[in-house]
Order: sequence, then C-alpha cells, then structure tokens
Amino acid sequence: MDVAQLKQQAAERAVDFVESGMVVGLGVGSTAIFAVRRLAERLRQGDLRDIVGVPCSLATAAEAERLGIPLTTLDERPVVDVTIDGADEVDPAFNLIKGGGGALLREKIVAQASRREIIVVDASKLSPALGTNFALPVEVTPFGAGAQVRYLEQLGAQVTVRRNPQGELYYTDQGNLILDCAFGPIAQPAHLSGLLAARAGIVEHGLFIGLATDLIVAGADGLRISARPDQPLHNQVRDD
Ligand code: A5P
Repeated sequence: MDVAQLKQQAAERAVDFVESGMVVGLGVGSTAIFAVRRLAERLRQGDLRDIVGVPCSLATAAEAERLGIPLTTLDERPVVDVTIDGADEVDPAFNLIKGGGGALLREKIVAQASRREIIVVDASKLSPALGTNFALPVEVTPFGAGAQVRYLEQLGAQVTVRRNPQGELYYTDQGNLILDCAFGPIAQPAHLSGLLAARAGIVEHGLFIGLATDLIVAGADGLRISARPDQPLHNQVRDD
C-alpha cells in the first residue's frame, strides 16, 4: 500500500464514528479530505442523515460544498460532535504538530469546540518528540512579522517565512503569514505553547496539546485505533 492508500484507510475508518444528526468538523489536508469524501458518500447512500459540517478551511468548505455536504458555522452550532482531521506529527501522548496546510488557526478553534477530535494519520507521522520531523508552523500578523522571526530565533528555531509554489508570500485564510520554525525535538511542548500564546502578533501556532481524543494510524501492519486514556485538557466543550 502506498502512503495515499494508508491515509485513505485511516480517514475512512474515522467516518464510521459519525452518526446521523451530528455536527461534524471537516479537517484539512490530503488525509482529512478522504474523510470528507467518505462522509459525502455515506450521505448520498442515505446511510447518514441530518449531518452538518464545520469546515476548517476555505478549501475544505469548497470541496464539501461541491460534494453536497450541508455546512454550518460555529456561530450557528457552537458545539461540534466529532471532528476528523490530519496531523503533521504525533507524539506518544497524542500531542500534535498541525498547520502544514496553513489552516492551524481554524483547525484549533474547531478542535476546541469539539467533543471528540479524531486524528487520522499514516504511520510516518508518529514521532518520539514533536519537532523531530516537522517544522512548527506559527501564524503571525503581517504587521511586526520581522520581530516575530527574531523572537522565534531567540527561542531556538530556524525560521522560514512560508511561500507558495510560485514563490510569493503565503497568506492564510485570515490574511496572516506563516513562519515555519525548525526547533528540532521540542522537550517541553506545553511550555513552548505558552510562550508562543503569550506573544502579541503570534495569532496561533501548530502545537495541539491535549486536544486529540482519538488516533487512527494506518501502517503496513494495518489500522491502529486508540483513545487517549486521560480526558482532554483544553477542549472547551462541557456536557452540562
Ligand atoms: C492543515 O493545516 C494541517 O494541519 C493538516 O491537517 C496536516 O498538515 C496534515 O496534512 P496531510 O494529511 O496532507 O499530511
């Protein structure tokens, strides 16, 4: 099986957890898009009814609309039952680096509004420590971006301002820039997350600490489905 087939397998398995009537967070990237397509298929087949999706990017919204998935917003439906999203790196505690596709802000807003955040990856995304294999995406306002580069370098990162394939500056759906920060293995991701969150001009960063509730990994030896044993730390959803 090639990597695309592994991604598809993991993503499609996650859609089995969606039930009729649910609000579903629709993730971003080459893995999550397989879940969006499978969801549309189950809707078409009549196997699922009354689903509404909350897309985590404009690109996902366009694809979901094209496939006929009804969409809503967090203003209309502030609680998401289940979100299916990909990740760039996953550590043994289910902490993540996300944002390779530039959608980390919306992805984190949706994750924090979700009762369940199912992360779907191929096995190459598993890592002993975040930052080992992937540069941390940090979304910054264009104003003052140079000062953020300096700040992030002082924190130990090698910083690259993200550009699109045409070589132009890459802008997020919010009109911000992405700084890709190669830290190497991050010893204390929660501490770094706090430092980044406290900095004016850093809009959001790709460390997702304590947000994933379930992990589906597709590898050469098959699918592994696991739930994080402890309760989510930062999901803002309470059933009260
Ligand atoms: C989007 O901003 C990201 O968080 C993606 O979910 C992540 O980059 C995984 O993408 P792939 O599934 O394409 O590897």
